[in-house]
Amino acid sequence: MNNLLALNWKMNKTPTEAKAWAEEVRSGLHQSYADVAVLAPAINLPTLAAELPQSVAFGAQDISEHESGAYTGEISGAMLKDVGARYAIVGHSERREYHGETDANVAAKAAQAQASGLTPIVCVGEGLDVREQGEHVAHTLAQLRGSLEGVGADVVVAYEPVWAIGTGKTATAEDAEEMAAAIREALHSFYADQAGSIRILYGGSVKPENIAEICGKPNVNGALVGGASLKAADVLAMNEAL
Ligand code: G3H
Repeated sequence: MNNLLALNWKMNKTPTEAKAWAEEVRSGLHQSYADVAVLAPAINLPTLAAELPQSVAFGAQDISEHESGAYTGEISGAMLKDVGARYAIVGHSERREYHGETDANVAAKAAQAQASGLTPIVCVGEGLDVREQGEHVAHTLAQLRGSLEGVGADVVVAYEPVWAIGTGKTATAEDAEEMAAAIREALHSFYADQAGSIRILYGGSVKPENIAEICGKPNVNGALVGGASLKAADVLAMNEAL
């Protein structure tokens, strides 16, 4: 299956900056070696819809677990779908940590994304303390099970060890594969035959220099990239590397 290069801008870029980035990607992207998706602040999505090349998808970094109604500040799946979004990240560790999102919230958001015709990118991963205790696989699989409760197979799973996010510390390609293989096995028990076609991404300090090695592992089908997604030149280099 083709790699997915998922670009999480986090809380970066104004619409003016998003337009400039999209123009640079459009003029530099001669061939897509990976499927590319930009996960941007919601205010940038109409700009991306207008400016990105057809081959580049886009989506949101979060979604409401509710369909509509009195939820001030939230954005629904229908709103995202209406502007042409294809994906929504759910359960990023920053949302789990700073907004107290639980596995149950994450599962509800993922189900809401699917009900709106979007593919959720469900994030899981352990903190440093858990890794040091050697409990990282059990911890991540428990989080996965809770975050996929009631969620269909049209899903992308992103494994992001929290200690590798924005720190410059990348898990080794072998670490990424160890977890991706364990996730794949768990997906087989949830989704039977469909598990083979679910993409598993690695995220955490991915950049042009290390993306090929990590995504070359058999169970890793792409990357969720934060910091290195902000410069169009790095994105073009990562696409070339895949
Ligand atoms: O969603 C992306 C991840 O949190 C990774 O961020 O590439 O800046 O380490 P990073």
